[in-house]
Amino acid sequence: GLKYFGAATDSPGQRERAGFESAYPQYDEIMWKSREFGQTTPTNGQKWLFSEPKRGEFNFTEATIVTSLAHKNHKTLRCHALVWHSQLAPWVEETEWTPEELEQVIVDHITGVMGHFKGECYAWDVVNEALNEDGTYRSSVFYDTLGEDFLKIAFRTASKIDPDAKLYYNDYNIESPGVKAEGAQRIVRLLKDEGIRIDGVGLQAHFVAESHPTIDDHISTIKGFTKLGVEVAFTELDVRMQVNATEKGLVLQKEAYKNAVGACVQVCGCVGVTIWDFYDPFSWVPPVFPGQGAALLWFEDFTKHPAYDGVVEALTNN
Ligand code: G3I
Repeated sequence: GLKYFGAATDSPGQRERAGFESAYPQYDEIMWKSREFGQTTPTNGQKWLFSEPKRGEFNFTEATIVTSLAHKNHKTLRCHALVWHSQLAPWVEETEWTPEELEQVIVDHITGVMGHFKGECYAWDVVNEALNEDGTYRSSVFYDTLGEDFLKIAFRTASKIDPDAKLYYNDYNIESPGVKAEGAQRIVRLLKDEGIRIDGVGLQAHFVAESHPTIDDHISTIKGFTKLGVEVAFTELDVRMQVNATEKGLVLQKEAYKNAVGACVQVCGCVGVTIWDFYDPFSWVPPVFPGQGAALLWFEDFTKHPAYDGVVEALTNN
């Protein structure tokens, strides 16, 4: 059953650069001082683009703003993400690597970043979004150069650098049974068959209010993973809709949140739920899907969505 309920967050500097005000006292109060969240994930700071912008030059400034607040306020920390094709430092993609060279680049990156946060992270997203929608591997500098060996290299290295951190494969659209979820199962088996440690699968859970998965879908997907000997977490839950939000949209959204949290509560082996920020204006959705938003649990005026009650109902088994 579920061990934590948390919200991912970014550093104020990152938000400011993206065009927001510098200070949000009400936001900070809810994020850090209230008892709403027992866990957090830095949404950006630990990613390759920010943590190793030039080869061998590590920068943990943005990440540490979030991780130190997490420690100070006793939040469990999930760490995100070591090997990902997106928000990758340009130098990684702009070079023609031999497989041996790129292996060294991956090993050095994981050693530097994971080593820096050693002992601080409950879990690390070691590889993020390696799959296409049809379950095949996504083309990336990593896959194109190394094939599926890049997964083995990443997890093998991670297992040595921080033996106490749970090692996760993390992806979206793997919350319902289907070819992409099967692809993620294949990754778990690939690593386990080689004796390489993988501890968990992260279901990102970026949903749409009108067409969200049922609780039974969630439960059978989660069990599909736990049967393979890994734990599961909902790592980036949000539920978007057309804005301005309608009452109907908010009701469907409540159902979507309740289904995900309820499934995690019910299935042994699902360890927690993280929402991808909690405050609508800071969601990744509006810039990426113009006309959509209201994906989180707090509106712009800091009132709560009906979905907040859906989460509480799921947590208390109502
Ligand atoms: O740091 C730059 C700043 O220098 C620049 O001036 C500003 C201009 O808009 O952008 C800033 O970078 C933004 C960055 O977030 C930090 O704020 C990027 O434009 C923006 O694209 C980036 O978005 C992030 C997105 O990942 C990138 O793919 C979101 O905040 C983040 O929430 C989102 O998270 C991902 C997960 O990591 C993986 N799963 C999907 C999820 C949603 O896309």
